[in-house]
Amino acid sequence: MIVTALLFSALTLADGFSLSTHCPPSFELTADNRCTLVTRYDAYDSLQNKGVGGTRTALPAHRDGFSPQQIDLGRYLFFDPLLSANHKQACASCHQPARGFTDGKALSTGTYGDIGTRSAPSLWNVGFLKKLFWDARAGSLEQQALIPIVAPHEMANSPAQLLADLQANAYYPALFRQAFAGTDQIDMTQVATALSAFQSSLISLNSRYDHYAHGYHQALTKQEIKGMNVFRSFVARCAECHTPPLFTNQQIAVIGTPEPDGMAFDAGAGAEPGHQKLRGGFKVPTLRNIALTAPYMHSGRFASLEEATEFYTKGRGHAVPAGENLLLHWHIWEPKLTAEEISQIAAFLGSLTDQSLLPATPARLPSGLALPDELQQPEPKTGVTE
Ligand code: HEC
Ligand code: HEC
Repeated sequence: MIVTALLFSALTLADGFSLSTHCPPSFELTADNRCTLVTRYDAYDSLQNKGVGGTRTALPAHRDGFSPQQIDLGRYLFFDPLLSANHKQACASCHQPARGFTDGKALSTGTYGDIGTRSAPSLWNVGFLKKLFWDARAGSLEQQALIPIVAPHEMANSPAQLLADLQANAYYPALFRQAFAGTDQIDMTQVATALSAFQSSLISLNSRYDHYAHGYHQALTKQEIKGMNVFRSFVARCAECHTPPLFTNQQIAVIGTPEPDGMAFDAGAGAEPGHQKLRGGFKVPTLRNIALTAPYMHSGRFASLEEATEFYTKGRGHAVPAGENLLLHWHIWEPKLTAEEISQIAAFLGSLTDQSLLPATPARLPSGLALPDELQQPEPKTGVTE
């Protein structure tokens, strides 16, 4: 009896949801209630005429200007399995905070168990990207967000069911009113805006590498500095495509990575008619938090950073299937890296880990649904649960 009474009062106390009025760390609130990103890279000039691989170069433009309420509503939506047809899968199921916002699988699994054809990319620093998806087919976070919700092999939902579920919920209509002043009818544009707002707050720019870049030389070990120098060299050429500070130049490159055994060739950005030159081309991924997001490449083909790096040194086009005539990027060649250089590069890539701004996983969801099973694992030490 006493236990029930205590439990009941705890529930009523914790009842109700309201959205944060503060910006996430690293963002400043403007007078008109928008969060703008502030980083130490603001002090540096643009990449223009600086060559590649320089450490003190500016970041590309970032999607910001969302309100604290939109960011926080997006956080609830991102973790809520209400977004999937059978209420079992959230965005965070495949983009798990504890795994660098990936799922640790080579290929993602949908809410009904369907296995997809590509690996879930990290979402850290996604607010800087001009094109989304491995094949760069989405032009904005808003456009991207609506795709997995309805994809049959992912969340398999429909806009009509999702909006009906949100509207019928005890809390969401009031939360949407807090985030989008003056609206009574929830719509998909608001869902996409809130998800984009949350994702644009996932900033990782405070790794040991960054401390080094800003002038603290001791932040990297000797091994990591050697790795950085090989990474930036014109022998390895990694920084030509994985350009600091984001560790991507955001271009599509045909590099000829292999598919897992038995899987059909993925034409990537070349799948569209008229894009033959981009056949087998993929967006250069960021290498931020890369030590947390194995397995690697669009098909999750490589299990470790050493394996992924070794790919580049095995010879231009060595993994291209017979019969495919790909226009490989000119920076893909035969750098002949030694085993030692490969482990130095892998060590350097490990210095790009920074989860200090990991957002809090909600302890409860407005839908009343439990967090998906895959999120019930202990969070890494840097994580905070609220
Ligand atoms: C079933 C697993 C799964 C679910 C659920 C899922 N995603 Fe993804 N996500 C993926 C995969 C796989 C890709 C890469 C697909 C491709 O490139 O074709 C991806 C790509 C992305 C990208 C592009 C990142 C980049 O660097 O290009 C973003 C952003 C993203 N997802 C956000 C979301 C959001 C928001 C949700 C919830 C509405 C969501 N995802 C739900 C698996 C998933
Ligand atoms: C010509 C541009 C280019 C160069 C040069 C290049 N990369 Fe890449 N990198 C890419 C592309 C494109 C992908 C994605 C390919 C795919 O998924 O099939 C990728 C993927 C990766 C990945 C996996 C990322 C993930 O999220 O799964 C790692 C690790 C990586 N590269 C490291 C390196 C290293 C180390 C070097 C130098 C030895 C290098 N890259 C040189 C374009 C390049």
